Amino acid sequence: MDPTQFQYVIRNGKKLDFHEFSNEMASRTFNYPRLSESKFPQLRDSMNKIYKIMQGKPLDKLTDSMMINLQRVFKWKFSQATDWRTENMYQFCCSIMFEASFMTLYGRDPVADGRNVISEMREKFTKFDAKFPYLVVNVPIALLGNTKSIREELIQFFMPHKMNTRHDLAEVIEARKDILENYDVLRDYDKAAHHFAFLWASVGNTIPATFWAMYYLVRHPEALASVRDEIDHLLQSTGQKRGPNCDIHITREQLDSLVLLGNLFSFFYLH
Ligand code: HEM
Repeated sequence: MDPTQFQYVIRNGKKLDFHEFSNEMASRTFNYPRLSESKFPQLRDSMNKIYKIMQGKPLDKLTDSMMINLQRVFKWKFSQATDWRTENMYQFCCSIMFEASFMTLYGRDPVADGRNVISEMREKFTKFDAKFPYLVVNVPIALLGNTKSIREELIQFFMPHKMNTRHDLAEVIEARKDILENYDVLRDYDKAAHHFAFLWASVGNTIPATFWAMYYLVRHPEALASVRDEIDHLLQSTGQKRGPNCDIHITREQLDSLVLLGNLFSFFYLH
């Protein structure tokens, strides 16, 4: 598609059927059986219903948890640093967003060293994601080096016996788990593959959106200053400070009121 025509396609979104395409593509890329109504009655509908947990007011809890986890990840990175370090900006955004999103959605394993598990998952995920565009255009996975075995390892992580021992799963993940449990025709592996697909959906867009937002802000200091100003103003009006030892709490509604920051992300979504 001519990229300059993208906005016209998006404006006609209602006439385009995403599911016709995504049903086939997702089952192939994430390796679960197609969501046909005859084999899995109501499954697609039930899954769609729980997306309500991720819209409007019910999103408050997820937003709060993401905010806490983002700060946890930053503090951890900061505590590990002994000096200035140069890092590839995409990898930096990837590690922050992946780790915070992962903890927010999949909680924690009460036994294993969570950090090691997450960074191992992130490395595997990054390798899989690099090959994702090829899978989407139907390149056989066998031609994509070790992508198949990496996908296998990622899926194994979400097997029901492992998911059942994790604590503090997000409400949306619990709800998906409960729905999948009702389908005996799905193998444990298929259920795990569905969870893996959700992991991809949760960070597949936020990582590049964060990267592009940061990239443009760094290249346009006047925009960076305005966005900073907007955030500082909100912090001030809510009696908060920024600094290494300050925990920040911004509600979903307050986030929505950040017009400049919001515009920045809408801009990347449409471009
Ligand atoms: C910058 C952030 C994001 C963008 C731009 C984005 C964009 C999209 C788009 C365009 C679709 C296809 C929707 C359709 O036409 O039906 C989609 C689907 C989906 N997204 Fe996102 N998304 C983002 C973040 C997230 C996050 C954070 C999550 C989960 C925590 C998520 C979960 C999903 C899921 C589960 C679907 C599939 C829905 C279905 O089965 O119909 N997304 N996303």
